[in-house]
Amino acid sequence: MIFAANFKTNHTRKSTAEYIRALNDKIESSPTEHRVFVFPPATALDSYETTATIGAQNAYPAQNGAFTGEIGVEQLEEFGIDTILIGHSERRELLGESQEAVAKKFAFFKEAGFEIIYCIGEPLEVRDQGDEAVVEYLLAQFEGIDTSYGKLIVAYEPIWAIGTGRSATVAEIESTHKALRATLPATPILYGGSVKPANIVEILSIENVDGVLVGSASLDIESFYEMVASV
Ligand code: 13P
Repeated sequence: MIFAANFKTNHTRKSTAEYIRALNDKIESSPTEHRVFVFPPATALDSYETTATIGAQNAYPAQNGAFTGEIGVEQLEEFGIDTILIGHSERRELLGESQEAVAKKFAFFKEAGFEIIYCIGEPLEVRDQGDEAVVEYLLAQFEGIDTSYGKLIVAYEPIWAIGTGRSATVAEIESTHKALRATLPATPILYGGSVKPANIVEILSIENVDGVLVGSASLDIESFYEMVASV
């Protein structure tokens, strides 16, 4: 299983270091065979001593250059970071990243050999139209994406379930992951959206769910590791 913590715009450099220290202590006292990822904000990226994988929430598809406010591969390489989140709905919706821009970013970081957690997810109005509309919407988010890339992990995060406390139902997750599996026979598929200690066991027991991408409930190390240790 894969457990990924997406801090979004939370935690500082100091609190991230404390978090990773606490995570290391937990891994040492209660070892896990699961893969653990942490995506801190860009200001907290560093060369942490940990068996968890530290990744970037975002970066510009360039080695370096004139891209004010962005970081590129050079700034990630400094810390040995070769894992990135691409296509998160908050970047698509709030930062206006188009499918074309997302695909360009994907191609660049694939070429650079990064492990990519690629996020997809539908808005509520699409979910309300039923399963078929959802699958069609999600498959369109693979436009321009090499779904056979060996270092790809896909995260299905219904937008209406993110940060709302309302997770998708077991039936919704099951049918969506089953449909995605047809396109992604060998790629791990994570679920994200209001995952928390109270629903982790149920979510991970769903067929074709290979792990979780967690926002709010990952911010506190006790809550995050409770989930890691639960299965
Ligand atoms: P929440 O766990 O806060 O719903 O966020 C999910 C998410 O967007 C992770 O990338």
